[in-house]
Parts: sequence; C-alpha cells; structure tokens
Amino acid sequence: MQVAVLIQNISQPLGLQLREMLQARLHCAELKLIAFDQAEESLVCSQANIVVVVLSPVPERALNLLRKIRFQAAGPVLAVGQASDSKLILCALHEGADHYLDEADLETQLDSVLRRLQTKEEAARQPAGQVIGLLGASGGSGASTLAVNLAGVLARELGRCALLDLKPGVGDLAALLDIKPTHNLADLCLNSARMDRAMFESALVPHASGIHLLAPPLMYEDIRLVTAQGVNKTLYLARDTFRFTVVDLEDCYHEEQLVVLRQTAFILLVLRLDFTSLRSAKRILANLEQAGISDERVRLVINRYGQAKELPLSQAEEALGHKIAFLVPDDPKSINAANNAGEPAVFRTPTAKVAQSIVQIVNTLINPDSVKPSSVRQAVKSINGWLAVFHG
Ligand SMILES: Nc1ncnc2c1ncn2[C@@H]1O[C@H](COP(=O)(O)OP(=O)(O)OP(=O)(O)O)[C@@H](O)[C@H]1O
Ligand SMILES: [Mg+2]
Repeated sequence: MQVAVLIQNISQPLGLQLREMLQARLHCAELKLIAFDQAEESLVCSQANIVVVVLSPVPERALNLLRKIRFQAAGPVLAVGQASDSKLILCALHEGADHYLDEADLETQLDSVLRRLQTKEEAARQPAGQVIGLLGASGGSGASTLAVNLAGVLARELGRCALLDLKPGVGDLAALLDIKPTHNLADLCLNSARMDRAMFESALVPHASGIHLLAPPLMYEDIRLVTAQGVNKTLYLARDTFRFTVVDLEDCYHEEQLVVLRQTAFILLVLRLDFTSLRSAKRILANLEQAGISDERVRLVINRYGQAKELPLSQAEEALGHKIAFLVPDDPKSINAANNAGEPAVFRTPTAKVAQSIVQIVNTLINPDSVKPSSVRQAVKSINGWLAVFHG
C-alpha cells in the first residue's frame, strides 16, 4: 500500500507527526512526504492508495492543490486542518476531500477514519473462491449424490474443496462420505460475530479425498440457529479459503439459501426427465428469476438419464425454455453401491460412465475452453447420451 502526504513544506512538524502516526498504523505501507511544489508533477497521487493533504498553514494553496489532484487520486483523499473553521471544512469537502481530520486531535481522528476505510475496503473485496450450488428440482433428484461426487472430483483435481450441506435437519452428505461431524453450521452461526478463519476451519470435517465438509445441524434447537447472516459470513470465509465451494441447497426462497445462490458462479438444477420433475424445475427457474438471480448461471442437469419411458430431451428443453447442459446416466448399480458404502462413485468406480459424466461436468465448469461443444454433442449422439453434454 502507498500513502502520499502532501504538505506545504516537508519539514513542518505536522507532516512528520503524520508520517509517524501512519507508519505505526499501516505497517506495510510505503509513505511519501511530498511538498506542494512537487505534488502536481509527481505521479504519486495516481499511484497512492490514500492521499493526505495538510491544509495548514496556507489553506488556500492546499485547497487549490486538492482541486487539481482529486481526479488523479485513485483512493480516498483525507484533508487535515483546523476544526474551528467550519468554512474551511466545507471548502475542503467541496474540493473533493473524502474525510476531514482535526489537526488538534489527529490520533483519534486518524484511527476512526482508517477503521472506516478498512471496513469499506473489506466490504467491497469479494473473495476469489467460486461457489457451485446444487438444487434438486424435486425430492430424490440426485442433488446430494452429485454434490459429493463433484466435490470429490474438484478435491482430486485441485487438492481440496469445501462442501457445504445447507439442508438443516435433513442433510445427508456426511453419510454419503461416511464421516461423523462434531461441529456444524449452527455453531458458526451462533458465533458469527467473532467467527474468523480459524473458527471456520475448525468446524469443517476433513475427508481423505481432500473434501472439507461443513455439516448442517440436525436437531430442532440447533436448526433454528441458522441465520442468513451466519451463512453469509461462513461462505465468505469458505470463498476466501478454498478455490471451490460446492453447496447442496435446500430451496431457492429462504434467505439463508438466497445469500448462497446470489454468490454462485454456477447453479446446477438437477432433475429427472419426468413430468413432476419438469414442473418443479420450471417453478424453480421462475423463482430464481424473481429473486434476481441471473439465468446465465443456471445449468440444467438431467440425472438418471436413460430410464424407460422418460420424456424426450427436446420436449424438456422446450417446456423449460432452457438448454440442457449435462446428462448423468442412470446407474443404480454404481450409485447405490457408492452411496451405501459412503464412498463417492468417482472414487469407488471411476471408470463407470456415471462417474465419467461427473468428471466431465467439472471439466466443463472449471475449464470451459477445453470442451468442444460440437464434438461432445456428436459423442452424445453416437453413444446415445451416455456422456455429459455441454451446450455452449
Ligand atoms: N445417476 C444415478 N443413477 C442411479 N441412481 C441414482 C443416481 N443419482 C442418484 N441416484 C439415487 O437416487 C436417490 C436419491 O439421490 P440423492 O439422495 O442424491 O437425491 P437428492 O436430490 O439429494 O434427494 P433429497 O431430496 O432427499 O435431498 C438415491 O437412492 C441415489 O442412490
Ligand atoms: Mg439430498
């Protein structure tokens, strides 16, 4: 971080005092004390994260400079002057200062402004981790099965992956991974005000595959502790810690679900090719739209593809007004065996077509350039839809 302090004369005591105070508060900052004469020519204002302009002892000159540098400065501009002169304060703010600091009470004022700037910066900063949300169109669509398998592939490819079970009271991801959580989301929500990365990580259950599961509360008194605010903070920390977080979602209308849906890179809407599933999927698509969640993030996944008497793909696409992105074959042999053993099919039977179709989903999502839509469509045609497809 760079901080530029602009002052009439660099040997002024106020300048030196400011430098000392800023150095003590912004440990890694590079601090430059610059005389007004050099300030305009110097590129420093455009590079500095914070610019401080000292108004005393000749405020007119400082205000003049403030007007000129305001549009060069990339970050906030702080003016330091006398608090007794209200006209001067107004002029400094009109000329473009973001904050006015009383030079007679510099320590306290600096502390409070830096704190506000830090909170603002933190609020604006979005962590880099991506969120993949899974929504089942109707009960038993296979959303949880896909969630553990997708997280498994991501963990295998990237070393680790967070998996959040957002189905309070009913979540079964721990069983699908054969692990026994000791903490859950309710513990984090209860302590959300003081939750930090260490607390977040201590609530996760590591699985040998590299999946880190955050389980949901299962008992009534804990379920009530889950809040949108707590989930939001949890997801923030997950995104700050993991490149990918896979979330098994309950629905698309409760606030704690919506805070996740709003942050997703992709929403995989999992359905079967039957009438009730299509009907529910249509309702979910409408609800997502109403909640202002972009349709572009939604990918339709047909699970259990290839069952007798299922509806044709073209009819499903027409009914939903949406392309189908992926097909996951019906394979009770592999999936039942994997789910009953608590070992994702992508590990237990990696060569099964169902496992390969899930790998294909991950590859398409995280590296879309590597998948040629036309060739995949061709492959689907030729082997009767056993592979996952991606409609670009
Ligand atoms: N591709 C598949 N082939 C065969 N069986 C599958 C497949 N995917 C899921 N199943 C089976 O479907 C059933 C429901 O799967 P799962 O629990 O993952 O669905 P869900 O959408 O999470 O359900 P819920 O609504 O209870 O959360 C399970 O018995 C599972 O073994
Ligand atoms: Mg489920």
